[in-house]
Amino acid sequence: MSSSASRSPILVTGGAGFIGSHVCVELINSGYLPVVVDNLCNSSAESLKRVAQITGVTPVFYQIDVNDKDSLRKVFATHSFEAVMHFAGLKAVGESSQIPMKYYRYNVAGTLSLTEVMEEFKVWKLIFSSSATVYGDPASVPIDEGFPTFTTNPYGRSKLIVEDILRDIAHSTGSSKADNQWNISLLRYFNPVGAHESGLIGEDPAGIPNNLLPYVAQVAIGKLQQLSVYGNDYDTLDGTGVRDYIHVVDLALGHVAALQSLNKTGVGCRAYNLGTGCGYSVLQMVNAFEKASGRSVPYKISARRPGDIASCYSNAQKAKAELGWEAKYGLERMMQDAWRWQQKNPNGFSE
Ligand code: NAD
Ligand code: WQD
Repeated sequence: MSSSASRSPILVTGGAGFIGSHVCVELINSGYLPVVVDNLCNSSAESLKRVAQITGVTPVFYQIDVNDKDSLRKVFATHSFEAVMHFAGLKAVGESSQIPMKYYRYNVAGTLSLTEVMEEFKVWKLIFSSSATVYGDPASVPIDEGFPTFTTNPYGRSKLIVEDILRDIAHSTGSSKADNQWNISLLRYFNPVGAHESGLIGEDPAGIPNNLLPYVAQVAIGKLQQLSVYGNDYDTLDGTGVRDYIHVVDLALGHVAALQSLNKTGVGCRAYNLGTGCGYSVLQMVNAFEKASGRSVPYKISARRPGDIASCYSNAQKAKAELGWEAKYGLERMMQDAWRWQQKNPNGFSE
């Protein structure tokens, strides 16, 4: 199926971003038409041109803020959406403590604007980008969806608040109860890394990266001098932090599986971990990246980063059982694809 007209449109907010652009590719590969709403505050429309280059299908694009309900209404009036995938939001944990109001405006108020417009247009299926950050510092690993939720920063709180709002919406008994068909999946991502195998789309952080993998990649290519490893005295195999890194293409495929499962399940709101179930330490990541790139990644051991935890990895069985999805790419492939993206695009999407 290649013509855009015959494809079922899916609204993808934040679709020009790192995860959203990979989801656009997989939606197109599965026969859907991504309709992207993005204000480009942390991305470039070039990513969508690259999606078109990869797939031969151009996503529809509107440069709109999700808080702009009038513009959103025009988009909903133009397309008959089967479902909405909501990626739009801000995601830097440290920054969220400096400018919390902006985080709540974008992440919480933005979601309310979107769901209000969805209700007006009777579009009831929603997939929301949540995060493993909602588990705070878990008592044990692996983490399953029944673990208590807790968070210590405005970013994490914005995700928890939205999860609560969406659960309330899905179970609401208000005036439009007869109409209420809300069917919502909360996808709790662990640590997305890697890039599309084409090397055409990938993660393009503004300024100095906060996250491990983009930082390592920029050290390997010589843009940054050395990595600071934040602590080697954690209770882990080598003392450095352990995380569940998941290939962004696996994550994208998890969204398509969640979308297809929304069509089979009844109304309600469910949370799923999207992770691999495996944890790797910072030093294991550095070694794997050096192997994949053939470059050395000089590092020094620094103090722990405030707010970091020792270990965080998923129990991914619920997504396997209920969505029929599991991650298939291993660490080697994540590193190869991250390196290809970095090499082909040393300055990200800018010229
Ligand atoms: P990203 O910054 O690359 O993508 C987010 C996109 O949303 C960007 O294109 C940005 O321009 C857009 N956007 C932000 N605010 C907007 C607004 N008010 N209106 C319209 N567009 C807006 O980030 P990402 O890594 O692709 O993350 C996508 C989602 O997944 C986010 O909600 C994030 O919190 C969540 N998440 C990300 C990670 C991660 O490590 N990358 C982990 C867990 C959850
Ligand atoms: C991974 C490991 C660091 C950078 C964050 C958010 C989380 C989610 C994903 C959105 C840790 C270590 C890192 C560096 C290092 N985002 N590290 N040197 O902290 O697990 O999760 O991104 O929802 O909410 O908190 O990811 O990539 O920053 O760190 O040693 O320069 O790498 O200490 O152990 P994190 P990360």
